[in-house]
Amino acid sequence: MEFLIKNDAIITKQKSECIVVSIDSGKNQSDLIKDLDQCTQGLVSQLIKSGDVSGELGKITFLYPFTNVLKQKIVFVGCGKAKEFDLIKSKKVIQAVTKELLSKQVKNITWDLLTFNPALSTDLAKQIPQIIGEMTYRFDVFKSQKAPTLHLSKVTLLCADRKLVEKITNNLLQGKIIADAITSTKTLADMPANICNAQYLAEQAMIYLDKTYPLLKVTCLGEKELAKLNMNAYLAVGRGSKNESIMTVIEYQGAKDKKAQPYVLVGKGLTFDSGGISIKPSAGMDEMKYDMCGAATVYGVMQAVAELKLPINVIGVMAGCENMPDGNAYRPGDILTTMSGTTVEIINTDAEGRLVLCDALTYVGRYNPKVVIDIATLTGACIVALGHHYTGVMGNNDSLVTQLVASSNKIGDKAWALPIDKDFQEQIKSTCADIVNAGGRDGGTITAACFLSRFTEKYQWAHLDIAGTAWKSGAKKGATGRPVAMLIQYLLDQKV
Ligand code: BES
Ligand code: MN
Ligand code: ZN
Repeated sequence: MEFLIKNDAIITKQKSECIVVSIDSGKNQSDLIKDLDQCTQGLVSQLIKSGDVSGELGKITFLYPFTNVLKQKIVFVGCGKAKEFDLIKSKKVIQAVTKELLSKQVKNITWDLLTFNPALSTDLAKQIPQIIGEMTYRFDVFKSQKAPTLHLSKVTLLCADRKLVEKITNNLLQGKIIADAITSTKTLADMPANICNAQYLAEQAMIYLDKTYPLLKVTCLGEKELAKLNMNAYLAVGRGSKNESIMTVIEYQGAKDKKAQPYVLVGKGLTFDSGGISIKPSAGMDEMKYDMCGAATVYGVMQAVAELKLPINVIGVMAGCENMPDGNAYRPGDILTTMSGTTVEIINTDAEGRLVLCDALTYVGRYNPKVVIDIATLTGACIVALGHHYTGVMGNNDSLVTQLVASSNKIGDKAWALPIDKDFQEQIKSTCADIVNAGGRDGGTITAACFLSRFTEKYQWAHLDIAGTAWKSGAKKGATGRPVAMLIQYLLDQKV
């Protein structure tokens, strides 16, 4: 889908198939409406007066072309009061319009939304591609009956203020890149585990990211290489599976200085988590194909980093693996020696994400990272704490945590900081090893982070628990693409 900005204020002049007109619920209609009214010999103000066209938030009125002077279709959309218009209201408006355009099979539109409340226009420009992207995403590769093809392909937004054109154009482009990254993440995450295993993750990165972007370089470490590195915790988790554990490393060099310290992202890539010998209950186990959403997030963010050509170095790691029960599987009671040398007593084989991550986090130490952020569907406890609304943020550096939360608010991909102090470390003490892999029910999200903190002491580190935010259950079952937007915003905020 193409998005364009046009520095123009006369909507009736626009030659697109359809014009979308934002309606104020108060008495003051914009100059755009006055022009439209003239063109239609007063019809529009009549329609507004009679209430047929309403300013009520999200209310749609569709008109087919009706005169020789105005050959375009018109969609009126109620936006409430212009002064009270905000990003939350705008989302409702954009969703209502998109739904109408899709059902009427409109191909291209011109819209005055950015002129409705100019103060909001720069933020809006970033949101529009994301909202339309979300509404037009389909995962129907396995459906015999495909969803109807999408017709909407070109969206032109009017911008009356010449001074804002550059900023808005830039934001619109960023919004489009974020929307595309979210689509890539969702497409990967929605793939079922019988197709999407660790090798599939590696192949997608090789076939698409490595080939498409000269600035991205992809390398893969299979079980042989992981064994050479003593990544025994990572390997133990994958031992019960027929599918090979593979860690995929995606390197981006955008800084002028090749040696500039990189931002490192590490994604949990459990392509299926059955729980292993500590097997999960069957109800809802199907959803554990989404346990690789951390890795899928890394994939999407790396794509966006390359598209944006950010002037920083970034390394993305997808820690691919499958947790299955089997004669060869690791068991409760086992003691593992991790890559760092720290020993772990296994209490529960379903607390596997932290085992895969701890070795991956030790491994990335070799890059002399500026910061390391891991992204993981790590604990059910995070859903209990923050529901499906907020990603949980923890780390060993307050300023990094604060920055991540700030970036999340800026882009509307919400995150909340949880405390991780020494008191919680008590819960992961072991009688026979250095630590246990499961610290009990209480504060489960935080004790999981405490476990990771034992492997990240050499650098600034943050952990994002996305168990509640990475996918939706029920009728709308599917990946959400979170927290791709938040991470891209964080990296955008770093470049100066
Ligand atoms: N992948 C799960 C966490 C999860 C559960 C994400 C439900 C989304 C929805 C993780 O590997 C896991 O099983 N965690 C256990 C840890 C426990 C055994 C300490 C959990 O949360 O129950
Ligand atoms: Mn698990
Ligand atoms: Zn898991």
